[in-house]
Amino acid sequence: MPGQVPLFRFKPSSQQLLPKSFVLQLLITFAPLFMNTSTQTIMTNLQMVDLKSQYAHIKEEINQAIQEVIDTTAFINGPQVKNFTTALEKYLDVKHVIPCANGTDALQIAMMALDLQPGDEIITPSYTYFATVEVVGLLKLKPVFCEVDKDTFTIKVEEIEKLITPKTRAIVPVHLFGQSADMEPILAIAKKHNLYVIEDNAQAIGGHYTFSDGRKVANGCMGTIGTTSFFPSKNLGCYGDGGAIFTNDDELGIKLKMVANHGQKEKYIHEIIGCNSRLDTMQAAILNVKLQHLDQYCDARRKVAEYYDQAFAGNDRIKIPFRASYSHHVYHQYTMQVNGVSRDELMAKLKEAGIPSMIYYPIPAHKQKMFADIDLGETNLDLTNWLVENVISIPIHTEMTTEQMEYISTQFLTIINALARF
Ligand SMILES: Cc1ncc(COP(=O)(O)O)c(C=O)c1O
Repeated sequence: MPGQVPLFRFKPSSQQLLPKSFVLQLLITFAPLFMNTSTQTIMTNLQMVDLKSQYAHIKEEINQAIQEVIDTTAFINGPQVKNFTTALEKYLDVKHVIPCANGTDALQIAMMALDLQPGDEIITPSYTYFATVEVVGLLKLKPVFCEVDKDTFTIKVEEIEKLITPKTRAIVPVHLFGQSADMEPILAIAKKHNLYVIEDNAQAIGGHYTFSDGRKVANGCMGTIGTTSFFPSKNLGCYGDGGAIFTNDDELGIKLKMVANHGQKEKYIHEIIGCNSRLDTMQAAILNVKLQHLDQYCDARRKVAEYYDQAFAGNDRIKIPFRASYSHHVYHQYTMQVNGVSRDELMAKLKEAGIPSMIYYPIPAHKQKMFADIDLGETNLDLTNWLVENVISIPIHTEMTTEQMEYISTQFLTIINALARF
């Protein structure tokens, strides 16, 4: 990893008799001796996502919902699946929600329903969770990787048109870390070139985009098709796997439903190639409960982000997440860019202080072995390559206490300042 700083690298100066990293090590090692019990409790309870505490708050509702499914034994396609689908359509203000087994299937079903053919080109960012591009490979389509915006980390609008060829069929923007991609110009480009838009909304459900005329549209409901994941840690997560597909197009709604259900509209009449991808009743029952809390969950995440933003403002080693004016950011992750420190060392010291951190994502899609044969041509992915080396995400979830936020931000600042190379 470039930029590694060995411990004891700093030479003592007349003002600084001990190396900064040595002092930091002492602080971290002996701090627990001077901590009161509540600080020690904070340290041992920090997680990227705290689903246990979240469950504790909705335990009765969830238990009752699960019990109802068990009592009726309608484990597949029980009434809860339809109830959830209808509730989500209403929440998103979209005509059709098609539930399915996970967010990866949702993307695959979307691409199958659009009849994309092997060799068709799909423009998508390389800086995303791998599932976005995995299905492109699975269906033998050709990913055309696009650079991301330096502030939002979402697809860089200015680069899209340069990548369009006669074989391009779709653009797949990803609403990354809870922030919408800049959909208005993306939709305009798609319209001009007659392309489909598939929004990968696995990370930004509950958020919306504001168009220049003031219209606010839920993420995932602007393009031809939107997809999402209900993976447990997502903003709307179930207690296993789950996903859904959204569209406002009636014909596509029918086709998506068929593809997700063995290509059939009527039982045993298989008209097209499909797959078996269902949201099971238990997960739908849980999601029915959690959907009612989604806005409150998104607000809670935004409050944590606000706290961190204020704590880290003005520190020139940290670039806090950018809030685009068009996006109601729902902070699936709190992802910063750091500079002037070794990120590996920073993560190690945070871990010693009981603070988990993650790299989303350590290897961009275009550098994955699976896509080693893809000819990138003139595509410039310098920023993508830079981001994977310099981003860091810290805990953000619906149950964070002020004490936890205070502890994390104070420790983060102490550690990053002590490790700073210049
Ligand atoms: C951007 C993105 N796309 C797709 C997926 C795939 O979702 P799932 O894990 O439910 O298959 C994820 C999940 O992590 C994701 O973050």
